[in-house]
Amino acid sequence: MKKIEAIIKPFKLEEVKDALGEIGIEGMTVIEVKGFGRQKGHTEIYRGSEYTVDFLPKIKLELVVPDLRVDPAVAAIVKSAKTGKIGDGKVFVSSIEDAIRIRTEEKGEKAV
Ligand SMILES: Nc1ncnc2c1ncn2[C@@H]1O[C@H](COP(=O)(O)OP(=O)(O)OP(=O)(O)O)[C@@H](O)[C@H]1O
Ligand SMILES: [Mg+2]
Repeated sequence: MKKIEAIIKPFKLEEVKDALGEIGIEGMTVIEVKGFGRQKGHTEIYRGSEYTVDFLPKIKLELVVPDLRVDPAVAAIVKSAKTGKIGDGKVFVSSIEDAIRIRTEEKGEKAV
């Protein structure tokens, strides 16, 4: 299993969620975050105005998926989150040791 963390522009959330739904992803966590990339937030436009602060509002998606679903999920995120402008975000993939569905106590890939 892998954890996919995707930092995206907030207005792209619905589009990314729909793209992941289309490939059968059944669970995810969404977190409102702030961050900056290599432009340090300075030259990015958010809601029509240039931000002069370091941190810009972003959305972080977290999803844990079986190995076979990693590539399609990452492709769906990248395709749906891309505008081609700076600040489109990043995707990080890391390994997950185990997962447990609390209700049924299923473990591993059966739990995600
Ligand atoms: N190395 C990193 N580690 C953790 N979070 C990061 C990292 N780089 C970017 N982020 C997060 O992703 C958000 C978007 O980053 P951004 O897309 O601006 O990256 P970038 O490297 O500056 O690329 P671009 O040149 O396309 O803007 C940041 O606001 C921050 O929340
Ligand atoms: Mg940037």
